[in-house]
Amino acid sequence: MKRYITTPIYYVNDVPHIGHAYTTIIADTAARYFRLRGFETFFLTGTDEHGQKIEEAAKKRGKSPKEYADEISAKFRNLWDEFEISYDKFIRTTDPEHIKGVQKAFEIMYNKGDIYKGTYEGHYCISCESFFPESQLIDNEFCPDCGKPTSIVKEESYFFRLSKYQDKLLELYKNEEKFVLPKSKKNEVIRFVEGGLQDLSITRTSFNWGVPLPESINDPKHVMYVWLDALLNYVTALGYGTDEKLMHFWPADYHLVGKDILRFHAVYWPAFLMSLDLAIPKHIATHGWWTRNGEKMSKSKGNVVDPKAVADAYGLENFRYFLLREVPFGQDGDFSQKALIDRINNDLGNDLGNLLNRIIGMSGKYFDFQVDSKDVEKFHAQELAEMQEIIDGLDALAEEMKWHRYLEELWKILTIANKAIDRYTPWAKMKEGKEDEAMALIALVANILAKAALLLHPVMPKTTQTIADALGFSIDKESFKKFVENRELLKSFTIKKVPPLFPKIEEPLMQEQKSQTKKEPTQPKSQDNVITIDDFFKVKIKVGTVVEAEEVPKSKKLLKLQIDLGEERPRQIVAGIKEFYTPSELVGEQVCVVANLKPAKLMGILSEGMILAARDENGLTLVGPKTRKKEGTPVQ
Ligand code: MSP
Repeated sequence: MKRYITTPIYYVNDVPHIGHAYTTIIADTAARYFRLRGFETFFLTGTDEHGQKIEEAAKKRGKSPKEYADEISAKFRNLWDEFEISYDKFIRTTDPEHIKGVQKAFEIMYNKGDIYKGTYEGHYCISCESFFPESQLIDNEFCPDCGKPTSIVKEESYFFRLSKYQDKLLELYKNEEKFVLPKSKKNEVIRFVEGGLQDLSITRTSFNWGVPLPESINDPKHVMYVWLDALLNYVTALGYGTDEKLMHFWPADYHLVGKDILRFHAVYWPAFLMSLDLAIPKHIATHGWWTRNGEKMSKSKGNVVDPKAVADAYGLENFRYFLLREVPFGQDGDFSQKALIDRINNDLGNDLGNLLNRIIGMSGKYFDFQVDSKDVEKFHAQELAEMQEIIDGLDALAEEMKWHRYLEELWKILTIANKAIDRYTPWAKMKEGKEDEAMALIALVANILAKAALLLHPVMPKTTQTIADALGFSIDKESFKKFVENRELLKSFTIKKVPPLFPKIEEPLMQEQKSQTKKEPTQPKSQDNVITIDDFFKVKIKVGTVVEAEEVPKSKKLLKLQIDLGEERPRQIVAGIKEFYTPSELVGEQVCVVANLKPAKLMGILSEGMILAARDENGLTLVGPKTRKKEGTPVQ
């Protein structure tokens, strides 16, 4: 009985944010749950460190890719350690064993004839590290996934025969009903594959920061496509291709992924595995995306939620509960302090914390904290049966990663307890001299709390241990077996006072938009980012007047401008400003133009320069002289 759970490995071009924390916390919850149930569990996380995106991010900061990757990878690892994420291995794709394993896999696929050499020509999005056919681009240029401009790449490349696996993949989706979780997400994968699979370009020659091809292939100018390298982490972490002693964990039981990377995991990854004759993972568990106060998070908007700031302000375990409870698995969710505070005050404070307080109070007042369960079955068979029915349904929800439903159901047993207190009013029973009934009620509630603590433990490890301490037992595999699986009750036990678990929160504890915003540093971080005055003078900026402006047909973003720079004829400049300006309001405006930029074509239209603009979360404004200047005046 084993379980192998993975998170995506995180790109090191960015510091951890709420999205990363979300995936990691779900995976951690699942790992803790399976361990508690007695499964031999292996939980993997790590960082994805190769590729053009990382190479460029490092260069921008004046660092070598490895230096830069070391720095950011450590940030992920440190945060997970601080969050007490119970990973068994933290893999880095720059680990030598990983690199060896990837080369081995490449060699096997190559020798089998699944990899061949050819030429690739197509549109590449560096941000998504992904090729797109022209038919999928927005406005013939922009990436359909992230909206950023793509670039045309033509280079010699090795290809993986993905097309060969189309039918086998469709068969997999048909046979394995729960291969993609939630099941509703499977259709989009099927549609994608049914649309026809093209062979996949899996090497690049235009940059170096990647895994070299195996020596036996002897083609040193190629490095591997970052997604081939990255996906293989799930097996190289178990020693694939080097020291295979952990391979008995394969296949993975759960690859946790965000919806944006489902295709890589549900299409490419099983095809690679089929080629390698390795088993297919059991579930690709796909979650949605978090927004902030209803808006997409982005660095430029400065509204990215920093998970550490939230955990510091509201408590790590409260945050974990919120993340899992707030959003149905697979759907998008919104982070707001109000929603978080409501969950803490209501679910945790009122339903759970108060219940414990009531039991501590009543057991102390009436029985000097000594509780005995001997009459629980006699007086509360019905409550016990109702509770058991709910508990019996929880495992299936956990197995499908439906933690929101799991918690929702679990809370129903707390409702049974709270209602029982209100219905049987132990204080009245005491007055009537029915001490045995009062004792049975208090013991019923304590037992419900004990089972709830065991079942909630994977989500809130420390809080639930405090509850267990108050009830005189400890949370471990044995208790889980006894009290949850074998349905036993705590016999006679002493209740201990503990401080309130969830003090009420009256107002937001974090300043909006301030402490959570990681702004890019205003000072260049390293000497390499500093340019000389000569560098600056290489850029010729001139004042120009817009003499004509029109929309570019079929483009959502572009306007075509004719700008008088005091030259023989106006310059034609294509600019992505349509969302912010109408053509008519631009005519007559003065703008600053980069006049010595190499001409380029945008959507097939020649653009002979670039206009300057300032952009923040409120929009975009063109930059021009404060008072009118003669066309062609240099800007210095
Ligand atoms: N390196 C790849 C994964 C390779 S796995 C073999 C990658 N890395 S990532 O750092 O960009 O993203 C990691 C995960 O974070 C993805 O699952 C992605 O969906 C998730 N999220 C990024 N932003 C998110 C939100 N705003 N909300 C929820 N999750 C989001 O992709």
